Amino acid sequence: MSAKLIDGKKIAAEVREEVRLGAAELVAKGHAAPGLGVILVGDNPASKAYVGSKTKACKEAGFHSVQIDLPGDVSEAGLLAEVQRLNNDPAIHGILVQLPLPAHISERRVIETISPDKDVDGLTTISAGRLASGIPGFVPCTPLGVQQLLIRSGIKTAGVHAVVVGRSNLVGKPMAQLLVNKGKGGDATVTVCHSRTADLGAVCRQADILVAAIGKAHAITADMIKPGATVIDVGINKLEDPSTPKGYRLTGDVEFDGAAAVAGAITPVPGGVGPMTIAMLLSNTLESAIRRVQG
Ligand code: GUN
Repeated sequence: MSAKLIDGKKIAAEVREEVRLGAAELVAKGHAAPGLGVILVGDNPASKAYVGSKTKACKEAGFHSVQIDLPGDVSEAGLLAEVQRLNNDPAIHGILVQLPLPAHISERRVIETISPDKDVDGLTTISAGRLASGIPGFVPCTPLGVQQLLIRSGIKTAGVHAVVVGRSNLVGKPMAQLLVNKGKGGDATVTVCHSRTADLGAVCRQADILVAAIGKAHAITADMIKPGATVIDVGINKLEDPSTPKGYRLTGDVEFDGAAAVAGAITPVPGGVGPMTIAMLLSNTLESAIRRVQG
């Protein structure tokens, strides 16, 4: 391996410490601690684990947090009522409804019910529109975390060619917007690729920064990487591995060993982008609490 390893765990710990200090400063000035409300529907084990980590992270940052667990057969109206309750709760500055939701509930309708002022997940159309227009607002936590990894690792984005592989509303599209927008961690020339892109390898090989958010294990191989490029792996995939106690291991969208021999810098999975998501959720919630104080 010749690439520099981008340590997401370390950078996320730095962000979380900054957020903890920011929250303590608010409280010391007599304001309410930042408050996050998380709604979990059903008992999907992965979602439960994510929500548990978010609630724990809130405690560690000195935040107020509320977790609402609803049964998998809750009606859409019942879920919307809980979102409204959090919208109206002055102790709450950020709301997150863990996705995916059961098939009988419209995710879009639920997301649009979240007050844009509390949309710390950045998923409402108002937040997406603000990001697309370069207006301050909330940005989805995973792409925001990737941007912080780049900034805090001293990786230049201005004028470079960034290729984002994946076009989801949660990662690919907001990632491309962040990289193309003006300012720190932006000003890049951006190409977005997806499942219908012709000759994906040829496009990826042009990338100075390659962000892989496809959701397919090892879809990006060494031959698709420009020597010296920065490779950011957003993927978290389960790969069968009978030699491990759980029978599987977590792996990214990038074939790490091969890629690390060619790239200039690379994020591992786990320990790269993953830890940044929660750190940025805390950061967005603190930001929301500060905006409330500043009116
Ligand atoms: N499920 C997986 N990632 C996310 C996320 O960032 N936000 C929400 N709300 N649900 C998710």
